[in-house]
Amino acid sequence: MLRFLNAGESHGPALTAIVEGYPSNVKIKTDRINKELARRQKGYGRGGRMKIEKDVVEILSGVRFGITLGSPITLMVRNKDWENWTDIMAIEGDPMNKKQILEPRPGHADLTGGIKYGFYDLRNVLERASARETTTRVAVGALCKILLEDIGIKIGSYVLSIGEKKIDKSEIESISYEDRFNNAENSELRLPILGKDEEFKEYIDKAKEDGESLGGIFEVYALNVPVGLGSYSQWDTRLDGKIAQAIMSIQAIKGVEIGEGFNLAYLPGSQAHDEIFYSKERGFYRKTNRVGGLEGGMTNGEPIIARAAMKPIPTLMRHKSLQSVNVITKEPFDAAKERSDITAVPAAAVVAESMLAFVLAREILEKFGSDNWIQIKERIEKYRQEVLNY
Ligand SMILES: Cc1cc2nc3c(=O)[nH]c(=O)nc-3n(C[C@H](O)[C@H](O)[C@H](O)COP(=O)(O)O)c2cc1C
Repeated sequence: MLRFLNAGESHGPALTAIVEGYPSNVKIKTDRINKELARRQKGYGRGGRMKIEKDVVEILSGVRFGITLGSPITLMVRNKDWENWTDIMAIEGDPMNKKQILEPRPGHADLTGGIKYGFYDLRNVLERASARETTTRVAVGALCKILLEDIGIKIGSYVLSIGEKKIDKSEIESISYEDRFNNAENSELRLPILGKDEEFKEYIDKAKEDGESLGGIFEVYALNVPVGLGSYSQWDTRLDGKIAQAIMSIQAIKGVEIGEGFNLAYLPGSQAHDEIFYSKERGFYRKTNRVGGLEGGMTNGEPIIARAAMKPIPTLMRHKSLQSVNVITKEPFDAAKERSDITAVPAAAVVAESMLAFVLAREILEKFGSDNWIQIKERIEKYRQEVLNY
């Protein structure tokens, strides 16, 4: 089974991931992984950290002469900022000599993590709970995208809203997913239509002036996915559940919908389902895709569509107030800080692409076998023909 573990603190020496179950004979270029890492770092409204760090992957195992070996792949991304943190993040020494973080920030893991793991210095919590961790998720996602692209599966994302500023569904209905993606790649906010950036940037600038932060909604999709990934047979084999879990696991994501999601609840049955059609060229198909490509916990061959809601960044500017309590003195304090990101919705969308890529790559390998990618690809090709002839 394809799986990965990642490790590393936000200001530690490096972030790492070990990927196991990735097949042999896949051509890997570090440039492709670095391209994805750069996409995660973009987006209007990000803070200073993104300017310090230009993430670059180093592959430490599992690849030789540009070809995967079928053995575990170790990925490492160094934290460039580490040189300024060797003291505070030292492996050995006395923590009492260092400035501790005793003030838990609302909206973060700080307080509960401190209580749970038994620390008063909340840096021990926030270093790992930070979304910096998603860097290696994106590196692993890039490996998965390489597999998926080789069998024609395309994954992408775009942003639909930042705070109350929205792109209306009717504005993108007639635009293909590829075009929405291409537009998003040329937008500082990953917007699926061109010419809207300035409006959104002004809105974000206003939030910054007010000392506010903003959340938003993005959509992530996968095209050309074979029919029948996932299964209805058990609760934990249903692919819609796996996709929702993977996206929900991203920091600050508070809601995930598949297809029309919550809106389906408002429709009568005759308008909520996707009717089935057949043609010799296409085989079975639907003209609508309200269920986002998943029925009975399985892919039905239509695009997979998931939408996610991100809460506003919890760190606010100094002149806005969020009340909290010091863990030692029990005195109240104002948790607002000098600065962090104002919004990170475009970056979260890129992380969600990576999680979707990982879940789909794992399902592909589960259905078509592991070990040697050349053989796996042949099986996928044969299966696709069988689906057409069904
Ligand atoms: C890409 C990305 C960047 C983020 N940047 C920040 C940030 O700069 N400052 C901050 O306070 N929270 C930031 N967050 C949000 C926190 O990581 C998140 O709110 C926190 O982990 C608690 O959310 P949870 O309860 O959903 O885990 C970011 C999240 C993501 C996905």
